[in-house]
Amino acid sequence: MSDLFPEGPDGLFPRDLSWHPPAATPGYKSTTFRAPRLPLLSLDATKSELTGPRFGHSLIGALDNDLIRNYSQDGTDAIGQRLIVYGQVLDENARPQPGVLVEFWQANAGGRYRHRKEGYQAAIDPNFGGCGRALTDENGFYTFRTVKPGAYPWPNGPNDWRPAHIHFSIFGSAFAQRLITQMYFEGDPMIWQCPIVGGIKDKAAIDQLTAKLDRHNTPPMDALAYRFDIVLRGRRATLFENRKEGL
Ligand SMILES: [Fe+2]
Repeated sequence: MSDLFPEGPDGLFPRDLSWHPPAATPGYKSTTFRAPRLPLLSLDATKSELTGPRFGHSLIGALDNDLIRNYSQDGTDAIGQRLIVYGQVLDENARPQPGVLVEFWQANAGGRYRHRKEGYQAAIDPNFGGCGRALTDENGFYTFRTVKPGAYPWPNGPNDWRPAHIHFSIFGSAFAQRLITQMYFEGDPMIWQCPIVGGIKDKAAIDQLTAKLDRHNTPPMDALAYRFDIVLRGRRATLFENRKEGL
């Protein structure tokens, strides 16, 4: 992001919207069909959006942040490279954000989603559902167990593949505040061949979407650990797919 965007009088850092990929990115074919063709309008949030019900702590189940077990048919673990993914949700001034609902979804270890329209030949894992959720603790940390998702092909160009990735959703203080992004894995050469990643011109923004291997938090004989911090806005903000629509 540019240093040309100093802190505003309200203490907030204005967005640098040029940082975000354009809505129509030809290398990412479907964007040419769904990108707005008219100038965007800004609508004020309604009272029901601002005061509507939020997700409560009591609705989080014991296995909701354990993708290795949360869809298991018979208690058998999902197949794949075992991972712990964790990180801190921060505001623009690096203040931890407690009580934030973080949701995540991903393909299985073979790169296969459990979806009726999935066209990839990789096998379904009957013990892997591919989604979960967690609330951040008092220090803004979330954590979950999973298996490393495989890369997968998608019908974009003649033979385009997505790098291994996990989708993230972060809910804010109102139900209409939802941010969406994707997490990649440090050192993956597939990142630089992906047409979706290719829409992001700022390498620093891509680096912020890349989880870092954390050997220190790797439980022996169990799982690798990756850290993925999420910054909600400001000069160090994570790049969110829906940032231009978001609050
Ligand atoms: Fe995906």
